[in-house]
Amino acid sequence: MRNLLDIMDLSTDELDSLIKTALDIKDHPDKYADACKRKKLATLFFEPSTRTRLSFEAAMYELGGNVIGFSESSSSSAAKGESVADTVKVVSNYADIIAMRHPKDGAALVAVRNANVPVINAGDGGHHHPTQTLADLLTIYREKGGFSGLTIGLCGDLKYGRTVHSLVYAMSRYEGVSFVFISPEELRFPRYIIDDVLEKNGIPYSETSDLEEAIPKLDILYMTRIQRERFLDMNEYERLKDSYILTPEKLVSAKKDMAILHPLPRVNEISVAVDRDPRAKYFEQTLNGKYMRMALILKLLGLDGKPSDEAGDTVRDVIYDRFKCPNHRCITTTEQELRQEFYSVDEEKGIYRCVYCDTEIRK
Ligand code: CP
Repeated sequence: MRNLLDIMDLSTDELDSLIKTALDIKDHPDKYADACKRKKLATLFFEPSTRTRLSFEAAMYELGGNVIGFSESSSSSAAKGESVADTVKVVSNYADIIAMRHPKDGAALVAVRNANVPVINAGDGGHHHPTQTLADLLTIYREKGGFSGLTIGLCGDLKYGRTVHSLVYAMSRYEGVSFVFISPEELRFPRYIIDDVLEKNGIPYSETSDLEEAIPKLDILYMTRIQRERFLDMNEYERLKDSYILTPEKLVSAKKDMAILHPLPRVNEISVAVDRDPRAKYFEQTLNGKYMRMALILKLLGLDGKPSDEAGDTVRDVIYDRFKCPNHRCITTTEQELRQEFYSVDEEKGIYRCVYCDTEIRK
């Protein structure tokens, strides 16, 4: 059974195939109108969403299937203290596939380990958001005709912005790609991804806090919202929230064919006046998200007509209950009787990471 926890669960060939299917769905929707007849998708959203939940639901309806679920934890038995594990065990009896969003990092892994049907991570805290990356990839593909050789600027909240984490993992697989990370010092891109993905593979990147200086080099500018809900200190949020506001004036020095992406929702990091710029692609991105989610549902239900390559679980030596995850947003802080699990990154240096949220500790 296949799940989608993080974008790296999909091979490059599988990503290419999803893009191909999504484009075919866009061009020939009638071909797919009954593809999921009598199948049910459960959307379990413990955290607010407009695009992800509604595009999943639209995707399933357009495939001829049905949808059940909830859009806030207060209308589920989570409000009475039910765990994620119990919730997905129960929902597995009612649905053929689950798309789940949860505010805790690593909640999607708990769901995968307890469900009897495929689980799609629709966002787990500040950790991963792989289906947003599918939307991003189709948008980039449609704008640029491919991925190789692109310079991608990621701007805003690169620390908590799960969409940028997943996008860097995905784009790093393509030849000649480079990254410019544009953020305030406090919201820098996570070091563990830079080490694991960019440093390890010799992929060029730079870090700056100056958006205007970076803009002329970019093929893609990926703006993000400063994530209010992830801050513990609201004074810090207030200080950082207007760090970047993209305006038509700032785009004067940008390439004529640079594409502007944003996972949305926007607060005020892109001025509404930019929407009229033909380079603004963030509303197309939301439609591309629906096509890619349709392609993904077909794939995970084995209805895409392609042989299913079983994804091998990442094999890691796991250490149980020796360390405690220090990340207050980790699912291990709330889920009942969940053991602490760490994998070793560098035994000699005593570097370990939480299996659920990838938070690094040094012992
Ligand atoms: N991009 C995104 O995840 O939007 P929603 O929070 O509205 O789903």
